[in-house]
Amino acid sequence: MDKFNRIIDYVRISVTDRCNLRCRYCVNEAFPYMPHTEVLRYEEIIRFVRVCAELGVTKIRLTGGEPLIKLDIEFLLKEINAIDGIKDISLTTNGVYLGKKVRQLKEAGLRRVNISLDTLQPERFTYITGVDAYKEVLDSIEKAKDMGLNPVKINTVIIRGFNDDEILDFARFAKAWDVEVRFIEFMPFGESTLWDSTKIIPSREIEELIRKTYALAPSPNSSKGPAKMFNMVGSLGRIGFISPVSTHICKECNRLRLTSNGMIKPCLFSDTEFDVKQLLRNNASDDELKEFISRCVREKPERKHEIGLVRKCQKSLRNIGG
Ligand code: 5AD
Ligand code: SF4
Repeated sequence: MDKFNRIIDYVRISVTDRCNLRCRYCVNEAFPYMPHTEVLRYEEIIRFVRVCAELGVTKIRLTGGEPLIKLDIEFLLKEINAIDGIKDISLTTNGVYLGKKVRQLKEAGLRRVNISLDTLQPERFTYITGVDAYKEVLDSIEKAKDMGLNPVKINTVIIRGFNDDEILDFARFAKAWDVEVRFIEFMPFGESTLWDSTKIIPSREIEELIRKTYALAPSPNSSKGPAKMFNMVGSLGRIGFISPVSTHICKECNRLRLTSNGMIKPCLFSDTEFDVKQLLRNNASDDELKEFISRCVREKPERKHEIGLVRKCQKSLRNIGG
């Protein structure tokens, strides 16, 4: 528990800052990668999760970059799944390689996936991501559903003048495909030169637009996360809104983040981070690690500071873990 009585039982782990896509709002042309030696190895991640689990963490998400470009990510999933106390393990992916791997991932213990998709137009997909892989992603969504990785969640970042003409198409997609589309506000991160405050579309605006066409019924969020969820009347599809910029979702915050280079980030919107890799690589004892991780929990701020509309965070989400 942190100083503000929040229970921190969820850890999001970026397993790599590398990615097979080049989303315009996430990277710039230079796109420098972390040297391999700086990136945590599987054994280090596994030990970190075991110690977290002993402190009460029950839920893990693997993110990137793109986690599925890592060799034998199934091994990591299996090992984490075998740790006492871990009840839920999920993955955030751009979906390009998911279709091919979904069976092995499920067998390794994966329960659920979030797939990032910002357009339903094949040519625009290529424009946004730099890669012609729309078909693969749609195919992955279908396969993930077939394999019972329920619910399949689609993460969609809506950016003004970029893909905001597709809001209703995404609502229709949620209905037609029986998936959960979660609209995420464009956050001020990292290397992209695309971000400025005029590009943010507050969730409220998206919700109002959708309500003009579709009936929405409030629905509980199965995963206790920050998304405000709605059923799309007449289907199994749902839509949700994640509003880290326009609202304070900090009261419900339940998480720590581990970056690909082994830094613990107590708050997504703060550049403060704590170097746990040093400890992992210098033979720290379990007790020392526990003390360190507990301190990071104590350092969680009560709420994000007001960078949202003016200043950018230094790092890109591909390193922090989206
Ligand atoms: N704002 C909001 N979401 C972002 N993502 C990447 N960069 C940003 C940003 N600046 C999203 C990706 C993906 C998830 C991992 O993070 O689109 O859905
Ligand atoms: Fe890769 Fe996700 Fe960044 Fe796109 S947004 S480049 S898929 S890490």
